[in-house]
Amino acid sequence: ESYDMGGHDTYMHKEIHEQVDAVDRVLRGRIDDRFSTVRLGGLNLDAREARGVRRVKILGCGSAYHTGLIGAQLIEELARIPADAEPASEFRYRNPVVDPDTLYIAVSQSGETYDTLAAVQELKRKGARVLGVVNVVGSAIARETDGGVYVHAGPEVCVVSTKCFTNTAVAFALLALHLGRIRDLSVADGKRIIAGLRKLPEQISEVLRGEEEIKKLAAEYANAKSMMFVGRVRGYPVAREASLKLKEVSYVHAEAYPASELKHGPLALIEPEVPTVAVLPDDDLLEKNRATLEEIKARSGRILAVAHQEQEKADHTIVVPRNEVELDPILMGIPLQLLAYHTALALGRDIDKPRNLAKSVTVE
Ligand code: G6P
Repeated sequence: ESYDMGGHDTYMHKEIHEQVDAVDRVLRGRIDDRFSTVRLGGLNLDAREARGVRRVKILGCGSAYHTGLIGAQLIEELARIPADAEPASEFRYRNPVVDPDTLYIAVSQSGETYDTLAAVQELKRKGARVLGVVNVVGSAIARETDGGVYVHAGPEVCVVSTKCFTNTAVAFALLALHLGRIRDLSVADGKRIIAGLRKLPEQISEVLRGEEEIKKLAAEYANAKSMMFVGRVRGYPVAREASLKLKEVSYVHAEAYPASELKHGPLALIEPEVPTVAVLPDDDLLEKNRATLEEIKARSGRILAVAHQEQEKADHTIVVPRNEVELDPILMGIPLQLLAYHTALALGRDIDKPRNLAKSVTVE
């Protein structure tokens, strides 16, 4: 772990700021403007095979699992293949039905997480086709899978994943676009997504330029008893990951819920000491999400919104730049990495090595 700190106090801070270059790297050399698609050299899945895929099942642990939730949505939206994500450990212990028409995808930063590797081995034993979305080149999962997409985030030292999370989400967008263009995604939509992807590095730097503001917000929310994170559809995996990140690095208790599920239980927890972070992209669910903010306000809950425009009902809004709606989860997670970081800093935590956690869990 002797990588240069480059003037940053922690690896987490360094890695958050490296995302501009990291995203540029995962895109580099892969965009094919002529056919409005992407080239993924290591996929090892030809067009005919891609057309035969009836389902996609994504497996991973921790933050990798959360990128899988984003990946599944992207694959459903762009390629219109039913897709879902599941923690790798749960999958391998429940004697899953392994279906020859399902494409399995293992996702991992290190490529060494035991539960994910064991799921891959179980799948291979049963004759399934398994791809990897992996950061570390030549790692165990990269070797055991039939092909895949490297994430090219570069070395990630902090236990809490930031740049690798973002790059993995972008890698899934590339895979979804690739599968989509083989299937029913139009040239125009392919072009639209490609243009959106190209805007990401500059938009990430725009979000990072708002760090001072987020630092102030973190100081304001750092003493919360617990934090609630909510979102609908595209906002939900962002809420899941932001909640995990806050817990891991600051030890502040946090829960994530689909915004629509609040009224089925967690609303009972809402009070001024339990603020809510709401992820509200400017998509067709915005009005529903605004109604959720009203429900929270009616219970005197404080609200920090992450949105594309100021939210009247929220106490604070972090405004992120607009991109194509399908890509919203990628940008909306970034200010919440900074929120977790500055909360941990305000509470004096050991940011790069949170207690009880390891960067990669290579045992059961
Ligand atoms: C550990 C880390 C998590 C990470 C997970 C999966 O639990 O603490 O931050 O998300 O492993 O790691 P992987 O290397 O497979 O992505």
